[in-house]
Amino acid sequence: MTDSLASERNSVIIDLAAFPEDFLWGTATSAYQIEGAVAEDGRSPSIWDTFSHTPGKIDNNDHGDVACDHYHRWHEDIALMRQLGTNAYRLSVAWPRVVPGGNGPVNAKGLDFYDKLIDALLAAGITPSVTLYHWDLPQVLQDRGGWPVRDTAHHFASYAAVVAERLGDRVHHWTTLNEPLCSAWIGHLEGKMAPGLTDLTAAVRASYHLLLGHGLAAQAIHAAFPSAQVGIVNNLSTIHAATSRPEDLDAARRMDGHTNRWWLDPIHGRGFPSDMREAYGVELPEKSGDLATIAAPLDWLGLNYYMPITVANDPTGPAPRTREVPRPGVPRTGMDWEVDASGIETLLLRLTREYGARALYVTENGSAYPDVERPDGTIDDPERQGYLINHLAACASAARNGAPLAGYFAWSLLDNFEWAYGYDKRFGLVHVDYKTQKRTIKGTGHRYADIIRAHAERARNAA
Ligand code: FCB
Repeated sequence: MTDSLASERNSVIIDLAAFPEDFLWGTATSAYQIEGAVAEDGRSPSIWDTFSHTPGKIDNNDHGDVACDHYHRWHEDIALMRQLGTNAYRLSVAWPRVVPGGNGPVNAKGLDFYDKLIDALLAAGITPSVTLYHWDLPQVLQDRGGWPVRDTAHHFASYAAVVAERLGDRVHHWTTLNEPLCSAWIGHLEGKMAPGLTDLTAAVRASYHLLLGHGLAAQAIHAAFPSAQVGIVNNLSTIHAATSRPEDLDAARRMDGHTNRWWLDPIHGRGFPSDMREAYGVELPEKSGDLATIAAPLDWLGLNYYMPITVANDPTGPAPRTREVPRPGVPRTGMDWEVDASGIETLLLRLTREYGARALYVTENGSAYPDVERPDGTIDDPERQGYLINHLAACASAARNGAPLAGYFAWSLLDNFEWAYGYDKRFGLVHVDYKTQKRTIKGTGHRYADIIRAHAERARNAA
């Protein structure tokens, strides 16, 4: 194959030469979405166990009790990664497995699970990238106030230190938080994710303590392993105004603040954006020194990108007083999310130019569509394939234009428990039959493998 790879379906070219030779080609998952085994080996319930078992919260009343049974099938899942040819894997550690009481005693069996997993990944030539918090707060800590209270940030840092001390001799890539926006805004303001609150004050306080916990955890990991590569993963979106009317342009500014700047400014030492402090009208639980902790030095930034957001002004709605408006003619995924690959390039370049990122990873990107199972058992998913290729092409373009992009993690390795949507929405490169737990690599998985192989071949030819 040559420098570039053309998709015969949509003839988009991925400029593979734009990616460095040691590019990380990965897949991503998270603990609650795939592990199952929720009551095994000393794991305590998380807020997602509680939320998913609350009738009416999840489509079909699905829950993560078994999920992909990865806790027992991880060998098979690593074999799948090898088949895909990926050289990296982003996983999350379940806090309630490791410190079931939220703080205090460590559960050796919980840590052992991840210890074995890391060794097996390394033996398979796969670089682990470990996320410490992908939304599964121990329920016991929620019962003591959860993220709206300050202690939770300190408990998070203690738990992060426990995991880093055990795995840090082998794990070099760490993520403190996955998408704190979802924990704070969707979990505490919109009520559509655990813990299911609709309380602006609680949401703003949660956002603050999440970022404080992030800073404390980053410091703890660096204290244990100074050369550790520590980052945070944010889900950012490009924001469009529904019209050019001043009130809609202002709504777009607020949505940008809510979605992007609220999370990026403080970690870059710029404090919380004053326009959004005003928009929320909630006093921050600030103590002296917090802003410096929140801005603890980071080695890289992670971008989870799925879609752009288009908004109009909505003076009667909840903060940030915006209403999402579909853009006519823009295609949508099975999640009803707009498809716009140019957004990933825009955001990678924004992180580079506005925030001075020194290293970037796309830590999640992918799409859910209804899959077509052919009579011969193969799975055809042309739309997901198109989504992958278009977004990789946009990543390559960002890299050409100066974004220091060091890796891409496709969401997701497996179909899995898609939070409030349950099991109906499938993002996997690998199909999971939940009745039998049979895994089948989809067309997109095979395509991803081709792309990874083509990139490696190009590097070999250049040598
Ligand atoms: C992201 C989450 C991930 C997955 C994808 C589709 O917001 O981080 O767990 O649910 O969306």
